[in-house]
Amino acid sequence: MKFQAIKGVRDILPPESALWNRVEQTAREVFGTFGFAEIRLPIFEQTDLFARSVGQETDIVSKEMYSFEDRDETSISLRPEATASVVRAYIQHGMQTLPGNVKLHYMGPMFRRERPQKGRYRQFYQIGAEVLGASDAPGIDAEVIEMLMTLFERLKLKGAVLNINSIGDKNCRPAYVEKLRAELVKVREQLGEDSKRRIETNPLRVLDSKLEQEQGIIEKLPRIAEHLCENCREHYAEVKRQLGLRGIVYQENWRLVRGLDYYMRTTFEITAPGLGSQNAVCGGGRYDGLVELLGGPATTKGIGFAIGTDRLVLSLQEAGEDAAQDGPAGKAAGPDVYLAWFGAAAQSAAIGLAKRLRDAGFVVELPAVEMKFGKSLGLADRLGSRHAVIVGDDELAAGIVTVKRLSDGAQQKVGEQELFSYLRTAQNPGI
Ligand code: HAM
Repeated sequence: MKFQAIKGVRDILPPESALWNRVEQTAREVFGTFGFAEIRLPIFEQTDLFARSVGQETDIVSKEMYSFEDRDETSISLRPEATASVVRAYIQHGMQTLPGNVKLHYMGPMFRRERPQKGRYRQFYQIGAEVLGASDAPGIDAEVIEMLMTLFERLKLKGAVLNINSIGDKNCRPAYVEKLRAELVKVREQLGEDSKRRIETNPLRVLDSKLEQEQGIIEKLPRIAEHLCENCREHYAEVKRQLGLRGIVYQENWRLVRGLDYYMRTTFEITAPGLGSQNAVCGGGRYDGLVELLGGPATTKGIGFAIGTDRLVLSLQEAGEDAAQDGPAGKAAGPDVYLAWFGAAAQSAAIGLAKRLRDAGFVVELPAVEMKFGKSLGLADRLGSRHAVIVGDDELAAGIVTVKRLSDGAQQKVGEQELFSYLRTAQNPGI
């Protein structure tokens, strides 16, 4: 019997994993400069946490969660997203007493039982960040988006498009939703099955529909921008002004409503090229009522985003931004030194030399068993080693090693001090 990874779940292998590391490391660096610290969250939580925050009627909760009954009969779910967990942790640890805004970032796997396709998996990864605190100042929204765009710029992600919208708050949205529902009821028979159902459950989500036959109908529906209350309208206008102050280019998209129930006011999404139909590389927005909904202080507001790491990596690969980024410190894959040894005494010397080379930061491949000379050097080549360092009886007796540059076969005999400076110069030819 041959085992296979489960449908929609995959392995991330070298050298691709090096690009993942670079993306995650760059996110840590950029987010760090904005004052965000990392939170590590559990992979599973009580099912109710997601049902309450993401929403019982959403696709995520109603049909995509991996839920199971624990031995004590509580219902547990693999996390489909992490905002709910961040808010749960914020409340559980009384973080509202911390000074200023609480700024947290996280990364890791999420689980949704969606139909797998390019850029859509059942175990996928997110890099996310959340700001929780007493202020809902539009400058926070703009700074969170600025941080995101800074990361994409640092990663040389080309063609990213930022879409923004405001979906109002509990003062103005209910009336708009009713208006929308009333209009949708009139055209009910022309709608697809999903949208028909959503007239009852969540009319806003109809705006998200990609169904061809519905596009003409949706264009004629009432738009939320014309139904925002004074406070929401001002907030949205100020978010746009603040984005302008930061030189951030955006598109307004009145149909951007997002698929999770906790959002209010600002919503945003970023699309990237090379992803086909699953082109949203990041989604986020403001969720001011969520902390209160989960039993925390009513005064705490929140905003954040999550990047789909799988999609970000895919887009970078499609643009050729993954080239020559493998191996430690961004060098091409393959060891700096293949340490070929011949004879028991040489093995002992080679073990010591390998340790000193690795301590100095060189990538060293040390054969675990003795091989014939030709076979050993052949392997050095196939591994993509830059140098072979040869330790045999002759070398041992003379207190030297032979170093061979594998690109052109040039070789010389050197003492250990010389070997280190030779390898250093080879690594940084400019120095
Ligand atoms: P979301 O829009 O559900 O938002 O997911 C964010 C991103 O995760 C998406 O834009 C996409 O790139 C990626 N993603 C989602 N599902 C999949 C999948 N099945 N396969 C691959 N990638 C996927 C959230 O999760 C919110 N928690 C974001 C947030 C944080 N809002 C405020 N704070």
